[in-house]
Order: sequence, then C-alpha cells, then structure tokens
Amino acid sequence: MRVRPEIAALPPYRPGTDHGELPRGGGEALVRLDNNEAPWPPFPEALDAIQRVAGGLNRYPEISCRDIVEALAAFHEVPVDGVVVGSGSVSLIRTLALVLLSPGDEIVVTTPPYPAYGVAGALMGANVQRVPAQGGAPDLEGMLARVGARTRLVFVASPHNPTGGIVRRRALEDYLARVPGHVVTVLDQAYLEYVTDPEYADGRQYLDAGKPLAVLRTFSKVYGLAGLRVGYGFATRELREVMERARENFPVSSLGQAAAVASLSRPDRVRERSQATATERARLRQLCDQLGLGYTPSEGNFLFVDVHREAKAMCAALRRRGVLVRSGDVHGAPTWMRVTVGGTEDIRRFDAALRESLAEVPEVAGS
Ligand SMILES: Cc1ncc(COP(=O)(O)O)c(C=O)c1O
Repeated sequence: MRVRPEIAALPPYRPGTDHGELPRGGGEALVRLDNNEAPWPPFPEALDAIQRVAGGLNRYPEISCRDIVEALAAFHEVPVDGVVVGSGSVSLIRTLALVLLSPGDEIVVTTPPYPAYGVAGALMGANVQRVPAQGGAPDLEGMLARVGARTRLVFVASPHNPTGGIVRRRALEDYLARVPGHVVTVLDQAYLEYVTDPEYADGRQYLDAGKPLAVLRTFSKVYGLAGLRVGYGFATRELREVMERARENFPVSSLGQAAAVASLSRPDRVRERSQATATERARLRQLCDQLGLGYTPSEGNFLFVDVHREAKAMCAALRRRGVLVRSGDVHGAPTWMRVTVGGTEDIRRFDAALRESLAEVPEVAGS
C-alpha cells in the first residue's frame, strides 16, 4: 500500500472527548458540555418528519436534495442556484479544500484554531498560515497581511470556535474590498443563531460583493440535529458550480433532508433556544467572574475559559464528577477549557463540579 505523503504526515484524528473512556450506554447521566451541541432534542416537527420517511429507507435519498435546497433558498432569500448542502458543514469545508487546493498552496486560519480547516488544508498538501485571534475574534487585517500569490482560501469563523468572537459588518466590508480576487473567503457561521451583537456581519449579504465567497451554516447546533449531519451554505456562482461538481452523490440522507426542511418551519423555536442560550451564557460568565477566571467574549453557545491550571487535568477532574468539557490543548491553549453553554441544570452541575475541580488541581505558576 502506498499512502499519499500528505495523509501519511497527518497526525491521527483526536476527538474532543475520548468516547472510549465513557461508560457505554451510561452517558445520559453525564453533563455533556464538550461538543458545542444543543442541550435540546430535535424539534417535534423534525422527529415527525423522520418517522414519516423512515419506512422508505430502502431507497436512496433524492439525489438533487431539491426539497431542502428549495426550502433553504426560500427561507434565506437567496437564489436556488446559490445553495450547497453536505453531510455536516465540515464536509463542505473538505469540498472547498478538494476543489481549490494543490500541494504547496496556502490557506489562512485563526489561532487558537477550529482544527477542521487545517486538517482539510493538510489533506491536500497545502501550507497553513496561522493568525492569532484579536480579543477572541478573527483578525481580518492580520489575515489579509498573510495573503500571498499562493493563498487560495481564507477561513473566517464567526463566531470563531473556540473563542467565540465575531466579525462585524464594517470589518468584513473593508476586508472584502481589499482581498485579492484569486482568494476564496469562507465565512463559517455555524453558530450564527446564537449571536446577539447588532453589528454582526451576516454572510448572505455579501454574496454580491464581487469576491468569491462561501458562507457555511449547519443544522447541528441550534436545531439539535448534530447526529444527522446536515450542513449547508451559500456560495458565489462559479464557486458553487465547482463545489457541485466535486460533491458526493448523496450528500444528505433522506432522514436529514426531511428533518432539516421540517426544522425550518419553526423559527420561533430557534429564537427561544437562542434566548435561553444567551441567558445561560451570561450565567456562565458570572460564574467565571466570581471565581476570577478570564474568558474571551463569546457570541456562540460556548465560553473559552482560562482556568490557570493544566486544562487536561481540569477536564479529568470534571469528568470524574460527571461533567465533560473540551480541553484547550486541542486548540493549542493548554490552560484554557471550552465549555458548551448547556441547559440550566447542566450549568448548575458544572458550577458545583468546577468549584471542586479548581480546589483539587494546582495552579500553573505564571499562567
Ligand atoms: C466553526 C465550526 N464550523 C463547522 C462545524 C461543523 O459542524 P457540522 O459539521 O456539524 O455542520 C463546527 C462544529 O463544531 C464548528 O465549530
């Protein structure tokens, strides 16, 4: 067997939580604040839709994903031929890398990073240029400064994972006016529904700005469908056309298509969930303030917290108390933890477990 050198050089995939360590089938008792999922189940409308189509699973999914593409186009007021769908938005990140990157090309990302961008780039043999976040948000000026002749992709997550900072309209407009035309910008808005800042830049409004742009969204977060793997996005015409050429035959399962369409019928429920998340996010911030722990300003359903202790040891201490969070060392920040904003009871249990764990794990000198 001869493996492509780009793949051979990749480190093994590291999941945020090692599920091998979790009790099989006993996971319900755990407070799961490690994956930025919604603490709620799918909407009842989505569960009904899944029931309705489940009996037809002997058939392949509708190949053009017509229903979901049309529903998304109508919902977001974009042309049908501007919509792309995939098995989670992470699959669209990979498709973008596949169609745009050759060995030696460059991509630009923010650190601490959402690792999927770097992995997608490395799979194609591209070099990754890393630009530190400013106040927890992507630094578009800094990213522009790293764009060169071989740059093909700039990945901008807004809110950024793991820090939660956003890109505001003015900054995005300045950036789009100046980014060279050979660069494709990816505005990843997986957490858009949780944002409350009125200056937030909604990528849909920039599809006509004259620069190649992909805007990524997902049903994995506020819609509570992470397990079904439905991502989508909007792209400028030429970009969408090449993404379609490279897409998988059946990018979204029949269950995923039906559940996603049904979920779009309840924007009121989305609003309720975002409000509930904002309330719990504020509670989490208050807890950190009380305990003297710093954090980055987050508009997502998570908070990136400096625990001044080895995050891996903190995660283990919390796990012993039934609470799972993500260690920042995955993101290159060894004294930070990313905590998903769960429901009220989740945050109550996190509060108790955090206080005990902070008392147990020694502080790192100078952190
Ligand atoms: C910034 C960002 N983009 C994309 C994704 C991937 O989401 P999915 O593949 O579930 O749509 C995530 C998941 O956590 C994320 O944090």
